[in-house]
Amino acid sequence: MAKLLAYSLVSIVPPPFKTEYIVGIAEDDGVRTPVRIDRSHLKNLKIGMSGTITTRETDQGEIKYFTPEEVKLEGGKVALVTGAARGIGRAIAIELAERGYDIALNDIETSTDGEETIKEIQSLGRRALFAVADVSSYSDVQKMVNMVVEKFGRIDVLVNNAGINIDRLVTNMSPLEWQKVIDVNLTGVFNCTKAVLPHMIAAGGGRIINISSQGALDGPVGQANYAAAKGGVVSFTKVIAREYAQYNILCNAVAPGCIRTRMTDSIPPGQLRERVSKIPLGRRGEPGEVAKLVAFLAEDGTYITGQLILINAGEYI
Ligand SMILES: NC(=O)c1ccc[n+]([C@@H]2O[C@H](COP(=O)([O-])OP(=O)(O)OC[C@H]3O[C@@H](n4cnc5c(N)ncnc54)[C@H](O)[C@@H]3O)[C@@H](O)[C@H]2O)c1
Repeated sequence: MAKLLAYSLVSIVPPPFKTEYIVGIAEDDGVRTPVRIDRSHLKNLKIGMSGTITTRETDQGEIKYFTPEEVKLEGGKVALVTGAARGIGRAIAIELAERGYDIALNDIETSTDGEETIKEIQSLGRRALFAVADVSSYSDVQKMVNMVVEKFGRIDVLVNNAGINIDRLVTNMSPLEWQKVIDVNLTGVFNCTKAVLPHMIAAGGGRIINISSQGALDGPVGQANYAAAKGGVVSFTKVIAREYAQYNILCNAVAPGCIRTRMTDSIPPGQLRERVSKIPLGRRGEPGEVAKLVAFLAEDGTYITGQLILINAGEYI
């Protein structure tokens, strides 16, 4: 086992972006070797810590890397899931809790739904915190993120799930109805991402998963505000992926089709039957099926960023 003798964070600033990586010296069997260290380990590095030295093929030739021995984190990994009292957000919070995450559960207000979700997460042996905030308000979101970092110490995963719809033909849609949906579904994603990014950068990485919608792609009649917001989420996702890849932050979007939640329960029964009849798999999706995809992007998917992934049983191909 090698020992870390020294390390330093090196910044190179070719415009427009800054690149940062960690260099160090590790000693194994009395032999000192210059090494690189993945930036994701930054927060946990300590002089004298043990680890292994491996050789990696890179664009700059063979480089020795030092990987610290499994680092014991204070508490567990932490996920902040917005709009998580019920529906898809709730399923995502529970799926991540089952995989060992402590959960900051955001919703616009406290509710029995939210309290039940909190209890279910706690029954899995994870910590759960009700983080009340209106995602469309930046000051609310900033306070919430500060509170989560104070209580849990970190945010490894942000899932921007909170969303609403107010469906009308454009001729019947008031400017207020347009704005409200944009504020929650698009500005909410900007607000939460902006507030969380500095913490992920300082921690050496993170994952951001934005819940968009098939409606971003297929021009749903009566949903101009919703479709525009969800399309905006896809474009925003791509920019975040490019701007923050250098900090080991991966950002992807998930576009569900027709999922069985209160949002689709409110579709008039005749219309819902007609829609489902056109879905190749012939049924609505379950929130838990979306949650598994989100958990994959949070936990695995180490070479996926800036992508939009559809989960829709082939309804839109
Ligand atoms: N259900 C579907 O078929 C479907 C399809 C595509 C995309 N989506 C998207 O998935 C996400 C979850 O949808 P769902 O079906 O679970 O809906 P839902 O209505 O069951 O849940 C949405 C949650 O977001 C919360 N919320 C609303 N406004 C908020 C705000 N300003 N701040 C914080 N929380 C807020 C609500 O209180 C609720 O708990 C949404 O972004 C939605 O657009 C859903």
